[in-house]
Amino acid sequence: MDQFSLKDKTAVLTGAARGLGLAFADALAEAGANIAVLDVGAPGDSLDKLRERHGVRVAFYKTDVTSREQVGAAVEAIEKEFGTIDINVNAAGVVTDEPFLRSTDENLSATFGVNVGVHPALSEIGRH
Ligand SMILES: NC(=O)c1ccc[n+]([C@@H]2O[C@H](COP(=O)([O-])OP(=O)(O)OC[C@H]3O[C@@H](n4cnc5c(N)ncnc54)[C@H](O)[C@@H]3O)[C@@H](O)[C@H]2O)c1
Repeated sequence: MDQFSLKDKTAVLTGAARGLGLAFADALAEAGANIAVLDVGAPGDSLDKLRERHGVRVAFYKTDVTSREQVGAAVEAIEKEFGTIDINVNAAGVVTDEPFLRSTDENLSATFGVNVGVHPALSEIGRH
């Protein structure tokens, strides 16, 4: 199983304070990867539990993935803290779970802004 090990690799995940992103972070940490999470929402104790369960390094960076400035600053901090970025999973998303015609403009803008407007995160993380 050693060939599947991600020991000493760094995985950067967006939207991993909870939900799918957190589940992906758990799987990567189980394989030995160190975890850096970018999210606008606070992770509560979920990332502490990840660290305890898998014995990997875990860090949280409060970041809006639609802001190139914020993602760039987080990437810089991750490189200082972890050295490299080896894996990127973009799971940040907005789920309002309401019919389109009954949704507010604010909710629709947030949904498109994050789910489609993820290019700052893609390019800032991808270039490293
Ligand atoms: N859960 C599913 O079964 C499923 C299925 C298909 C697609 N999706 C899509 O996958 C994405 C994630 O789904 P989920 O169920 O994990 O949702 P979730 O709401 O549980 O988690 C989304 C995470 O993204 C974060 N986030 C939102 N806006 C952000 C921003 N601007 N910057 C940084 N982080 C931000 C939230 O704080 C949250 O932690 C969504 O776009 C959803 O539509 C989910």
